[in-house]
Amino acid sequence: MDRLKSKVALISGGARGQGAAEAKLFAAEGAKVVIGDVRDELTRQTAAAIEAQRGGNAVRAVHLDVTRAADWRAAVETCEREFGGLDILVNNAGIANMKGLEETSEEEWDAIVNVNQKGVWLGMKTAVPAMRRRGGGSIINISSVFGLIGSTGSTAYHGSKGAVRLLTKAAAVQYGPDKIRVNSIHPGLILTPMVSEAAISPSEIDSLIGVTPLGRGAQPEEVGWCAVFLASDEASFVTGSELVVDGGWTAA
Ligand SMILES: NC(=O)c1ccc[n+]([C@@H]2O[C@H](COP(=O)([O-])OP(=O)(O)OC[C@H]3O[C@@H](n4cnc5c(N)ncnc54)[C@H](O)[C@@H]3O)[C@@H](O)[C@H]2O)c1
Repeated sequence: MDRLKSKVALISGGARGQGAAEAKLFAAEGAKVVIGDVRDELTRQTAAAIEAQRGGNAVRAVHLDVTRAADWRAAVETCEREFGGLDILVNNAGIANMKGLEETSEEEWDAIVNVNQKGVWLGMKTAVPAMRRRGGGSIINISSVFGLIGSTGSTAYHGSKGAVRLLTKAAAVQYGPDKIRVNSIHPGLILTPMVSEAAISPSEIDSLIGVTPLGRGAQPEEVGWCAVFLASDEASFVTGSELVVDGGWTAA
């Protein structure tokens, strides 16, 4: 119940999917949570649902476009003003498409890299000074199995998620002396709105399940519990690591 007691977490892309699941689990484990997303109404609804479940003064909803430095500054200020500091950042916001290298337009490349890669850098850049003021922290960057291995499409997504993997390790090395741990999570097929909106057909989902030894897609909470672990003091010696949450996909 209290694995994150006295900690304050900022979660990007927290309106739905994995970010919302992480926000609910973090709050249930005693954290104060600020969720930021570009979907303002849904962010408010998710915050209200968490407040109802948790009761009391546990959550704030903010507008956060992860590509905008000013939004990040405002989100971190909200953590410090409302809850007294920032201990945990989950860089979860992400967008995807299935397009291959030649089919990807320059605009599509820029959009995906801006959110998935630049957004993670900006988040860390803004959060680190606040974590230093707290004497340490935990940053969790959501990459993907597509940041570890290739596939027949999703070129910009692969490029951005691969970058997140090494941004994570570089930050872990740079901020170890500040007691800030930085780790990446690499989900496989997680059954969230992203999967339908990235236009993955039912037969493509079946083939992804076919390469997953556990034989199914995961619920967002199955990633969320891994984020709880990395955020908590249970992971006190874990930094620069990549936690693969893929039902065995990349082990095969
Ligand atoms: N679903 C999967 O199978 C899967 C697999 C591997 C990795 N991931 C990664 O997991 C993370 C969460 O994805 P999800 O599956 O919950 O998808 P989702 O689409 O349900 O949630 C993503 C959230 O990010 C938000 N977002 C998009 N652009 C944003 C921006 N510029 N600023 C702030 N928020 C923004 C969306 O509004 C949405 O609420 C993403 O980084 C995604 O790439 C997903």
